[in-house]
Amino acid sequence: MSVTITNVMAISLDGMIGMHALESDVERRAYNFTNMDDREFVREQLEQADAVITGANSLRASGSAWRVRNDRGVNPAWIVFTTKGLAEGLDFWGQKDVQRVLVSPFPIQEALCAASGVKNWIIPENSPSSLIKKLESENFNRVLLFGGGAINKLFYEHGLVDFAKITVCPLLIGGVNSPRFVNPGLTSPTHFTLISSVLRENLVFLTYRVKR
Ligand SMILES: NC(=O)c1ccc[n+]([C@@H]2O[C@H](COP(=O)([O-])OP(=O)(O)OC[C@H]3O[C@@H](n4cnc5c(N)ncnc54)[C@H](OP(=O)(O)O)[C@@H]3O)[C@@H](O)[C@H]2O)c1
Repeated sequence: MSVTITNVMAISLDGMIGMHALESDVERRAYNFTNMDDREFVREQLEQADAVITGANSLRASGSAWRVRNDRGVNPAWIVFTTKGLAEGLDFWGQKDVQRVLVSPFPIQEALCAASGVKNWIIPENSPSSLIKKLESENFNRVLLFGGGAINKLFYEHGLVDFAKITVCPLLIGGVNSPRFVNPGLTSPTHFTLISSVLRENLVFLTYRVKR
């Protein structure tokens, strides 16, 4: 089976995904960026996923992987792109019931990975296409791309995103250095086809197919 990549993100009306660099989901809910409806929506996505790809900063912000049993009775694997590694104090290292992987272009945090049951996949140049081949070989077929903006850019730039599930949240962030849905610098526009839109209270949940 092939790999399907679905980007799941909550964005502000000005395309931001948070106010500051290492902002957690809890902080976002505290100032009404997102709400419990969105949290429930993310949970539903995880229930039908084999793995999640995320960037090191997003993991630094959350500190841990979500624990949500999927329809195969396991927590989705948590796959983190990094070059510098993750701080030893993060809860992530202790989540032995979650399959966790650091993706890096060279071996990283070897002793800590071995002691914590975290795998380290060495992917030359951290190429997202090579990662997808690896995911396929590991039977991770339903994969969620959880951002942030740097990792989203990497996958959109390489044309590797199949679907986007975007929660539009009714606020403007306007921060000069706030993290964005996709970091600047895409070489060409990416187009989407709307599949569905659902209104829940003040949020709009949009599902798009990415045009290739
Ligand atoms: N609203 C939402 O739905 C949502 C979702 C996700 C995240 N967020 C927020 O977004 C913010 C984080 O976003 P972000 O754009 O700053 O960071 P990010 O995409 O989460 O992570 C960036 C990090 O990923 C690693 N990385 C990036 N490109 C790489 C590459 N080509 N090869 C290898 N590693 C690579 C680097 O880690 P190293 O530093 O280790 O090299 C880089 O610093 C946080 O505040 C988070 O809470 C919001």
